[in-house]
Amino acid sequence: MKISIIGTGYVGLTTGTCFAEVGHEVTCVDNNPEKVQTLLDGKIPIYEPGLEDLVKKNVAAGRLKFTTSTEEGVENGDVVFIAVPTPPQPDGSVDLSFIEKVAREIAVCLTPQSGYKVIVDKSTVPVKTGEKVAETVKRYAKPGCEFGVVSNPEFLREGSAVDDLLNPDRIVFGSNDERATQLMQKIYEPFVAPVLVTDVESAELIKHAANSFLALKISYINAVGRICEKSGADIEKVAEGIGMDDRIGRKFLNAGLGYGGSCFPKDIKAFIAISESLGYPFDLLKQVEQINDDQRTLFLSKIREKLWVLQDKKIAVLGLAFKQNTDDVRESVAIKLIHEMLAEGAQVTAYDPEATETAKKFGNLDGKITFAEDVYSCVEGAEALVIATEWPEFAHADLAKVRELMSANLIFDGRNLIDPVAAANQGFEYHSIGRPVTGA
Ligand code: UDX
Repeated sequence: MKISIIGTGYVGLTTGTCFAEVGHEVTCVDNNPEKVQTLLDGKIPIYEPGLEDLVKKNVAAGRLKFTTSTEEGVENGDVVFIAVPTPPQPDGSVDLSFIEKVAREIAVCLTPQSGYKVIVDKSTVPVKTGEKVAETVKRYAKPGCEFGVVSNPEFLREGSAVDDLLNPDRIVFGSNDERATQLMQKIYEPFVAPVLVTDVESAELIKHAANSFLALKISYINAVGRICEKSGADIEKVAEGIGMDDRIGRKFLNAGLGYGGSCFPKDIKAFIAISESLGYPFDLLKQVEQINDDQRTLFLSKIREKLWVLQDKKIAVLGLAFKQNTDDVRESVAIKLIHEMLAEGAQVTAYDPEATETAKKFGNLDGKITFAEDVYSCVEGAEALVIATEWPEFAHADLAKVRELMSANLIFDGRNLIDPVAAANQGFEYHSIGRPVTGA
């Protein structure tokens, strides 16, 4: 199949590359010439395990092209995916101006001679966006152009995006047009996964409802963690016990500092805003957000309670990315926490295996903290160690060496990575989330 993707951000680039990998002919379009040049040079602008090799391989095989020309993209693709940003606005609703602009650009490139085209919305958008895209394309296209509009939400996770795309657990698309449905089915033929075909509105809603539900699971376990702390129970055991019920499942029941990233915070806000605009105040999701925000505040008060004053305290922070296996710091709880500690005068040294540069660039931390090269140089001389991101490397740190290097014995583990007994055995006073304090 001939496919074009407009927008080579996270979703567009990984989706386009994986479509090429399964044999489709893919043209990726981006209006940023520097980005396109980087990609043409065989480099990728983001850190995502496995992606760079796949880009190189498929470019070499002639199945993956990059261009700045939307016209070329529309001409080359029987199916044109829109994968542009949908950033949040101050009131939580979604800014759809990029989608609207791309819809217009695609429309003017359509010709009656180019035949039937499918325009697919891949970006996460509010329900009813497909209808607006169809209206817009119709308004700006020349008479006689034939097209269908489809919603095809993406469920990939950063850090495992390639695998999520090549081996998805489900494929969902919404189409109100039989010709479009058939072309979409052909695109997804090489993938071994159940396919759910719905109407456009349901597909749009599935994305927001899925992400909100996952966020709800996280906030739920974090709320239960607070009860654990007050009662002496252990959240890890509780999560295991409830997760053994097939109807609940253990995944996304990891208590911690809460969710961050480019999706959950934005999507939950957007879903609240959309629901409200449709006449339903989604109070449950407002609670999910509140619990998530409070999680960080409560953690900081634990640190404050022990260190008494943060002014001039040397604090080592492990983790800057919003989660493991990524260099993405958008809405990173680690970065927010660091800024809060800095505001109280703490001296922070931080280490992250991948996110140092992005934290300097986008986290407003350059010149404000010290960036360490590894776990051990990070903890040297620290009075307290804070674990803020769930990188597996942190779970395997040599605790005896860490204790030797630190000047005091406090650990605040915001991701429950370390065994509380092992920490106490090495002489640490160990605080985590929803578990009893050890070594005090
Ligand atoms: C998410 C969805 O998982 C994915 O399906 C969607 O397409 C995009 O949004 P992503 O943002 O890459 O993916 O990260 P994810 O692995 O879902 O983690 C999100 C946040 O939740 C991270 O900050 C992580 O630390 C936190 N989290 C996750 C928890 O606190 N506890 C958990 O049990 C799981």
